[in-house]
Amino acid sequence: MRIVKSLILTLFALTSNGALASAASAADRAWVFDDAPSYPGVTMMQVSEGRQTVSGSITTEWYGAIPMRDARWSGDVLSFDTRNLNDPARPTRHWTAKIDGHGMMLEGGIWHADVKQTGRPATVTEVAARTFRPAPDLPPMGSIAPDNLAATPPMGWSSWNKFAEHIDDRTIRAMADAMVASGLSKVGYRYVNIDDGWQGKRDSAGILQPNAKFPDMKALADYVHDKGLRLGLYTSPGPKTCAGYEGSYGHVEQDARTFAHWGVDYVKYDLCSGEWFYADADSVKRTYHQMGVALKATGRPMIYSLCEYGRFAVSSWGRQVGGHLWRTTGDITDDYTSMSDIGFVRNPKFAPSGPGGWNDPDMLEVGNGGMSDDEYRTHMTLWAMQAAPLIMGHDLRRTTPAAMAVLTNANVLAVDQDTRGIHGQRVRREGDVEIWRKPLVGGAVALAVFNRGSQTTKVTTTAADAGLPRLGRVRDLWSDATVRPNTQFSIPPHGVVLLRTSLR
Ligand code: GLA
Repeated sequence: MRIVKSLILTLFALTSNGALASAASAADRAWVFDDAPSYPGVTMMQVSEGRQTVSGSITTEWYGAIPMRDARWSGDVLSFDTRNLNDPARPTRHWTAKIDGHGMMLEGGIWHADVKQTGRPATVTEVAARTFRPAPDLPPMGSIAPDNLAATPPMGWSSWNKFAEHIDDRTIRAMADAMVASGLSKVGYRYVNIDDGWQGKRDSAGILQPNAKFPDMKALADYVHDKGLRLGLYTSPGPKTCAGYEGSYGHVEQDARTFAHWGVDYVKYDLCSGEWFYADADSVKRTYHQMGVALKATGRPMIYSLCEYGRFAVSSWGRQVGGHLWRTTGDITDDYTSMSDIGFVRNPKFAPSGPGGWNDPDMLEVGNGGMSDDEYRTHMTLWAMQAAPLIMGHDLRRTTPAAMAVLTNANVLAVDQDTRGIHGQRVRREGDVEIWRKPLVGGAVALAVFNRGSQTTKVTTTAADAGLPRLGRVRDLWSDATVRPNTQFSIPPHGVVLLRTSLR
């Protein structure tokens, strides 16, 4: 089957190269764009004409060769459609290519981007250099045996929320230093994760190199390990990562080996431009499975973080592909609206996760300054009640005392890290008040009372909220004080009270 396929591909390449060779020299059947914008990076347009039909493609850096649909000439203007991305309201985009003397004006769009570029006829060499090479077919789906790498939700830090692409070796070392010096590592934070922006180009053997800001990834991993911490890296199944860096498309096994060789302990695999190639449930599962197998094959234990924004009910198959955590939503931003939408509405819709594999409502924003202390306590409580990974996202060198108190409260961390790993659920809603319950080890129960409104509210919890016949001892976890079972709490706007109770 594979031989037949490669034969067909070779024939196609010969025919199209042949056609293009004459096209480029005589009838201008291929055009290149020297001013390709970074997204989506249109580098070439190819057209071949059959007796009755016109076909062709737009080659992009992000999505490879995008085939034309319904291509037709009208005078000097070629118009066609392409499949669109991420926009159910606009499943196709319309394009026109106006030939003008020797040049060409291409107008169209992909996803949110409008494209308007001037092209020129291509030489055969240029066509060859820009031709996109599809990756081999995805291996068939399988099932990866569970391991013991994430018995409780992973805890650590990631560069993205605060620094985005503005990262380098020095900053990452400084974060590792600060994680230890501040005492954050002592309460359980241990992964230092480099998100998007570390990648350079591939060498002649295809091995991915870090960019100049990361001169020696192995030395960086050693540095982090020497502090008793672990190192995370980020890549994508697509040709480009979300910020436009080199992805692992066509190099999945090779990149997994490179990460293991450097001493990486945690890999975040972000769909990004891969969503063009893997657009349905089957191919998304298989592409995540492919990296899961590749990581396992290295023999190095690595936490595997799936980032496909919760598509295709990921919590029902994340474990099967080797995932230890999987994002359930798009990106969090440092404001109450985004955080509360993820924490109260989106993440709870996912099938309960638990020991070994966790729903990931995205990294923490605590310490970044966009929310009040009450809102950050709500953020942390929602994440703890839903057994979410706790991946900090602020500058660890500048953790305010208030942020420190939110991030290191031992009672609250114990709710998150409870070994039963139950994803807590809402049990009662009255107006702006929501009461959530999370059963804990040994028959105890965590009860969170949230006030989503903008007025202070008074609330009393009941044994029924806790799912117990009566309330025994009740402890207020944020203030670390014992309270009477029938206490009426006064909860500030966007605030929370978190309790731990049991029969005894
Ligand atoms: C996506 C992910 C983010 C982050 C960026 C990096 O948006 O969801 O968490 O990794 O990509 O480009």
